[in-house]
Amino acid sequence: MEPEMFEALTPVSQMLARNLDVLTRQPLLVCGLLEDNLPALLADAGPAPRIFTTDFRYFQWQKSQGMTEIEFGTHPQPQQAAALLLLMPKAKAEAEYLLAACLPLLAVGGQVFIAGDNKGGVKSAPKLLAPYCDLVNKLDSARRASLYQAEIIRPAEPLVLSDWQKGYALEKEQLQVCTLPGVFSAGHLDSGSRLLLDNLSPLKGRVLDFGCGAGVIGASVLKRQPELMLECIDISALALEATRLTLADNQLDANAKIYASDGLSQVSGTFNHIIANPPFHAGLKTFYHTTETLLTSARDYLLPGGSLTLVANAFLPYPELIEKSFGHCDTLAVNGKFKIYRATRR
Ligand SMILES: C[S@@+](CC[C@H](N)C(=O)[O-])C[C@H]1O[C@@H](n2cnc3c(N)ncnc32)[C@H](O)[C@@H]1O
Repeated sequence: MEPEMFEALTPVSQMLARNLDVLTRQPLLVCGLLEDNLPALLADAGPAPRIFTTDFRYFQWQKSQGMTEIEFGTHPQPQQAAALLLLMPKAKAEAEYLLAACLPLLAVGGQVFIAGDNKGGVKSAPKLLAPYCDLVNKLDSARRASLYQAEIIRPAEPLVLSDWQKGYALEKEQLQVCTLPGVFSAGHLDSGSRLLLDNLSPLKGRVLDFGCGAGVIGASVLKRQPELMLECIDISALALEATRLTLADNQLDANAKIYASDGLSQVSGTFNHIIANPPFHAGLKTFYHTTETLLTSARDYLLPGGSLTLVANAFLPYPELIEKSFGHCDTLAVNGKFKIYRATRR
C-alpha cells in the first residue's frame, strides 16, 4: 500500500471543507469515492463520521490511521444513521446502488448530501435523489466540484442485493457470469480477458485469480479443470461478491477461496499459477502501481516451475519489468490492443 496516495485532500474535499458547519451538524455516514483523509477533516470539525467503503485498500489505510468507525463490505451494518454523505463514484449505477444500500439507515427528515467532481456525474444528484426526496438544493460549487443537499421524505426500502445483480452468458465456456454495479466487465466479457482465456495452457494445483472482478477467469479455469484449488482476490467488495455469485451459480464454489486483498498483501504461501487481467486504466497512477508491484513480486509467490500469465494493453512497458524479475518474458499472443505475457519461475 502507498499511504502517501491518500494524503493530499482532493478538490472535492477542499470544497467540502468550506461547508463543515452544515456537514457536521449531525454524525455523518460517508460512502462512495473516498480518496483522502476526509474522515479526519470531519472528525476535527464535529462528531466523528462513520465510514462505509467497498474498497479494501481504503479500508486498510483508514484502519492504519486509527479509524475504528469504518466498515468494508457490500453494504453498511444495519445501525441507524442521522445523515449520509455520498461522494459520487465513477459509475452512475454504483451511485444508485450506494444510495439504495445506505439510505434505508436514515429516517424521514434525515439529511442526504452528494458531493463530487463536476465532470464525474455529480450533476445527476437531483435525479438520483428523486425517489427519496422532493427538493434537492445545490449548497456549493468550487474547485470544479459541487455539493447537493436534500431531506428524506420517502424512506428507502431495505436493500435486496439480488435486485442489483445482472449477468451475461459466456457461450464458449458455458458459464453464467454475475455482476454487480461498478464491477469490471458489467455487460460482456472484456476482450483482453477473452484473449487471456483463449491462450491459457492446462493448469495444475493452486491457482490465483488476481483482480478477479466478476470471477470470469477463475470460473473459466475451474470449469475446464474442476480439480484446481482456486483463490480469487480483489480490492472491491462488490467484485468479490460478484465472483462468489458467479462461482456459486455455476456450481464451481466447492474448491474456491474468495477474499479481499490489496495486491498480494493478504495472500499467503505459493502458487502453481497466477493469472491476471490487472487494473490498467490509463492515467491512474494507483492502478499502474498495483500492476507493477504484482510484476515485481509475483515470483516470490510462485512455486519453482510456477507461472505468471497476464493480459495487458500492448503499449504498457510490462515486459521489461517481468524480465527483470523472472529473467525472461514470453509473449503468447497479440491482438490490436492487447498482449498476453507469461513468465515461469525457473
Ligand atoms: C481489469 S479488471 C479484471 C477483472 C476480471 N479479472 C476480468 O478479467 O474481467 C481488474 C480488477 O482488479 C481489481 N483491482 C484493482 N486494484 C486492485 C488491487 N490493488 N488489488 C487487487 N485487485 C485490484 C479491480 O477491482 C478489478 O476487478
